[in-house]
Amino acid sequence: MGFLNFSFILLLMNLLSFQVLFDLVKGDATLIRQTCKNTKHYELCVSSLRSNSTSLKADTKGLAVIMVGISMMNATDTYSYLSSQLLSCSNDASTKKVLKLCSDKYSYAYDALQSSLPELGSDSFDYASLHVTAASDYTNVCHNAFRVRSPALAYPAELARREDALRHLCDVALGIIDLLLAQE
Ligand SMILES: *[C@@H]1O[C@H](CO)[C@@H](O)[C@H](O)[C@H]1NC(C)=O
Ligand SMILES: *[C@@H]1O[C@H](CO)[C@@H](O)[C@H](O)[C@H]1NC(C)=O
Repeated sequence: MGFLNFSFILLLMNLLSFQVLFDLVKGDATLIRQTCKNTKHYELCVSSLRSNSTSLKADTKGLAVIMVGISMMNATDTYSYLSSQLLSCSNDASTKKVLKLCSDKYSYAYDALQSSLPELGSDSFDYASLHVTAASDYTNVCHNAFRVRSPALAYPAELARREDALRHLCDVALGIIDLLLAQE
């Protein structure tokens, strides 16, 4: 009985190590799935990484770089959106002030994300993590600016959607960087 159990465990261990080896060699879609399991938003992670074909050849660090790049594009997209809102005549002075602050914050978010790229390149994962966290926090600074105006300004639904989008992308990047930190 004991012997049977023992050989069963050995067999299981062999199968498991074979699986791990297979995944390492294969990289590609399996690595993407396994990496994304370590993030807060699995579906967003997989679909974002799949949108860039270089993901299939990337290692974990490469996936982090791609995810940061996708976050940067998203920050730029919202920065452009805010800039166009600023030009709209229908907004009053108070709204314009907050929109200006927000467009600044989204450009700082972009800068912070960009700063994390050379840090990922030099394996400074702690610093990369701090910069991606900072990028995520800038979206919240924008949100708060609406709250603290007196009278308070309604936070536009479109901006709320965009805040969530960038924050979730940053969360995914952070989940991947956590893996890199754990592998050091
Ligand atoms: C894919 O990711 C790489 C690395 O971040 C980037 O250089 C490239 O421009 C991306 N491709 C697309 C189509 O976004
Ligand atoms: C960023 O996220 C927003 C909100 O989901 C989306 O509408 C937009 O297309 C995204 N932009 C990029 C470049 O990923």
